[in-house]
Amino acid sequence: MSVLITGSGGLLGSKLAEILSERGYIIYSGYYSNKPLRGIPINLDVSSEESVREAFKISRPEVVVHAAALTNVDKCEIDKELAWNTNVVGTRNIAKASEEYNALLIYISTDYIFKGDKGMYKEEDKPEPINYYGLTKLKGEEEVKSLVSNYLIARASVIYGAMPASGKTNFALWIIENLKRGEKIKVVVDQWNSPTLNTSLAEMISEAIERKITGTYHLAGATRISRYDFAKQLAKTFDLREDLIMPVSSDEISWTARRPKDSSLDVSKALKTFHNKPLNIKDAMEKLREEIDGKAGPIL
Ligand SMILES: NC(=O)c1ccc[n+]([C@@H]2O[C@H](COP(=O)([O-])OP(=O)(O)OC[C@H]3O[C@@H](n4cnc5c(N)ncnc54)[C@H](OP(=O)(O)O)[C@@H]3O)[C@@H](O)[C@H]2O)c1
Repeated sequence: MSVLITGSGGLLGSKLAEILSERGYIIYSGYYSNKPLRGIPINLDVSSEESVREAFKISRPEVVVHAAALTNVDKCEIDKELAWNTNVVGTRNIAKASEEYNALLIYISTDYIFKGDKGMYKEEDKPEPINYYGLTKLKGEEEVKSLVSNYLIARASVIYGAMPASGKTNFALWIIENLKRGEKIKVVVDQWNSPTLNTSLAEMISEAIERKITGTYHLAGATRISRYDFAKQLAKTFDLREDLIMPVSSDEISWTARRPKDSSLDVSKALKTFHNKPLNIKDAMEKLREEIDGKAGPIL
């Protein structure tokens, strides 16, 4: 089966390309600037209809996983045109082409479509984004729903993994790297979400492809946790110094874009449907540890 992955050099896309390649899928790895390690590389700018059309002509996909996005939340707030073109126009272009090719489209969305005033959001709760990134991702969901017959919208939350991707670190690696160096870090105590290990999300997406699961699902970690407690738990798992983690309030951090206070996701629908269940934080961190220990990785 031929699968086109957009953003295949990214944190999720790279893991998904790895897992699906090992399972014998023919993977076309759409990349923008960072060349992917797995799959057949196709240079792709999702914001260009012509570039998308060309990628589909080459790959003729039966399944498309649309993981490409402008994911830097502050950059989206500053450069709204780029955010709109990448996340909304880009998704529209991918959605149109997926429908034309009769492909199943899996769109990766986010907990940031929610306001963050109550937490443990269910799939049917009303989206109300409070920053531009969240707005563009929500508009992307709307494009998918209106243009594609066969789709899965998979909402994740703070994705982390064992390797840097797309030339950048991730929240878990940033914590580990700093604590390893003996450096103090400030982590907010008053923001909660459902951190999602990229491997776990990729396994769930792989299952969705195999079983043709469609609709909207929260495919995230199964534990609601604050950023601060996540950092503490990570330090415990990796035998690192917890005393280097300084608790701060989000008011003390000057971000350009507002962040939802509690955008944690209720994953009970996924728990019922998927054989690969969303992982609780302890199991996810153990898996992360195995992955990092199993690699002569660049950070440890
Ligand atoms: N990271 C999170 O915490 C998080 C949480 C919830 C949901 N999500 C969603 O999950 C998906 C995957 O996130 P991620 O963390 O894997 O993202 P990531 O590591 O930032 O990767 C995003 C990818 O998008 C590509 N891209 C950017 N602009 C593009 C364009 N115009 N055309 C084609 N590709 C373009 C980038 O390519 P280059 O590197 O080549 O430039 C990169 O590979 C995204 O849709 C994101 O919104 C992420």
